[in-house]
Amino acid sequence: MKIAVLGATGQTGQFLVNQALQQGHVVTAIVRNPGKLGVHHDNLKVVEADIFSADSLKSHFKGQDVIMSCLGFPVTFFSTVTGYSTSMSSMISAMREARVNKIITMTSWYTEPNSGTQSSYLIRFLLLPMIRGILSNMYEMEQFLQKTEDINWTVVRPPGLKNLPASAEEIHTHEGYFVPDGSGNPAGSAIGRGDVARFMLSLLNSNAWVKKGVAITTK
Ligand SMILES: NC(=O)c1ccc[n+]([C@@H]2O[C@H](COP(=O)([O-])OP(=O)(O)OC[C@H]3O[C@@H](n4cnc5c(N)ncnc54)[C@H](OP(=O)(O)O)[C@@H]3O)[C@@H](O)[C@H]2O)c1
Repeated sequence: MKIAVLGATGQTGQFLVNQALQQGHVVTAIVRNPGKLGVHHDNLKVVEADIFSADSLKSHFKGQDVIMSCLGFPVTFFSTVTGYSTSMSSMISAMREARVNKIITMTSWYTEPNSGTQSSYLIRFLLLPMIRGILSNMYEMEQFLQKTEDINWTVVRPPGLKNLPASAEEIHTHEGYFVPDGSGNPAGSAIGRGDVARFMLSLLNSNAWVKKGVAITTK
């Protein structure tokens, strides 16, 4: 398949690009800093574009089968996080103009404001308040996608990310804001970035999670 990857220079993005190339896909990495992507391959094209501009993205989207995003935006003390929703709005506009209709993107567990009430004290009272700005804007982006009927989108929600390559472990899924165990409590709290990339790529040949948000984890 022909895949355009945003956030390709990031930690998950690099796993995704490498695995996609290993699987024989043709990848266009859309980046702001081409020098940062340390991968070279005959089936990899690296282009520079502005993720907040549909005009800048659309020429690179033309002819792609699918758009995949591993973009991430940090919390700052001085401004609110808006990168997820604004970049997604540009991506969707560019997809419409370029006639691409499948996108697979990643957010996180607990984007919905009340979904963390069953998490551990540490997560609920320390981590979630610290990253609430990121989660809120991810949720805004998810709500925007919910209203996007003409595009086949999937939101992949992992828990905490570890810098590990793809494993052979089973990836557990749940349509929701975390993966529950048998008692309804969150099952596990982390997954390797390589496994997130593996799951995202597994969606290329499946319609199972189209127009859905899927929480994932390994145990
Ligand atoms: N950390 C966790 O435990 C955790 C848990 C669940 C979900 N997540 C989410 O999972 C996603 C991926 O995480 P990660 O750690 O793999 O991300 P990461 O390493 O921080 O990579 C972020 C990517 O976004 C790109 N990016 C950011 N701002 C950009 C801009 N203005 N223009 C173009 N590209 C831009 C970065 O480009 P540059 O390389 O040029 O900076 C980089 O490629 C993030 O959304 C993160 O919030 C993280």
